[in-house]
Amino acid sequence: MPRYAYANGRYVPHALARVQIEDRGYQFADGVYEVILIHDGRLIDGEPHFDRLGYSLNALRIPWPLARPALRLVLRELIARNGVAHGIVYLQVTRGVAARDHKFPADATPSLVATTKRQRPPAATLTAGAAVITLPDIRWRRCDIKSVALLPNILGKQAAAEAGAFEAWLVDDDGCITEGTSTNAWIVTRAGRLVTRNLSAAILAGITRLSLLRLAQSQGIAFEERRFSVAEAKEAAEAFLTSTTSLVLPVTRIDGEAIGDGKPGLLTMMLRDNYLRYLAESPS
Ligand code: PDD
Repeated sequence: MPRYAYANGRYVPHALARVQIEDRGYQFADGVYEVILIHDGRLIDGEPHFDRLGYSLNALRIPWPLARPALRLVLRELIARNGVAHGIVYLQVTRGVAARDHKFPADATPSLVATTKRQRPPAATLTAGAAVITLPDIRWRRCDIKSVALLPNILGKQAAAEAGAFEAWLVDDDGCITEGTSTNAWIVTRAGRLVTRNLSAAILAGITRLSLLRLAQSQGIAFEERRFSVAEAKEAAEAFLTSTTSLVLPVTRIDGEAIGDGKPGLLTMMLRDNYLRYLAESPS
């Protein structure tokens, strides 16, 4: 089956999909994106992802490229054409094509591209713990916008890979962890409290984070949304990370130091199971 991409109104064979060289996404990273999970052919948490897309577009004053219901249809059609049961859909909106000039162009039309990628079904993903390293957070001060400008993130992820780790947790000037390069960061304190950083311009409002907090709430699991330091994370009983692609992934080492007993934590695994059940039961 050929793999299709969607590019500005057309479904085209993936390998033939092109953007213009003066697209502002290409020249200025003047655009935003979303990554949405596909589970059993269904879009997971589509509406919160569209809400966040609207937030990012609004923050950069880029108009919606399509009305929200039309965008939903495009993504569903692409998933169906590509026959993806488990994977992700990536969508990117840029301010559009214009002669290079930093100022907003007067009359550009936003560009929209979307692609899909297969992933293993979540049940088959590794639950052995992941290692993370810590690095200074050198990003800009609007990390709440899901911008395609990801240089600090890719440098951090590369440094993690070169250190044999899965992720880099980024550390602010006060020694507190903001989030990972493409994931949100969580700990469980020795007193058994679930902690993740509060929302602000310092982090992305992860959709997996949101769903997991809702699940915790519905099950009476207490949590705190607050800052936590690298030292507190290393002293924690458990740690994990969340994202659309990683789901709920135990973290068992930070900077080479074992967390808790060095194995995936009990609460972490319970939250992961809850999240997998949530995926299985989510409507389209
Ligand atoms: N990353 N923090 C950052 C900086 C991210 O880029 C992401 C998502 C998250 C987790 O958000 P969510 O739960 O909505 O996926 C947190 C996506 C998956 C990516 O860039 O591929």
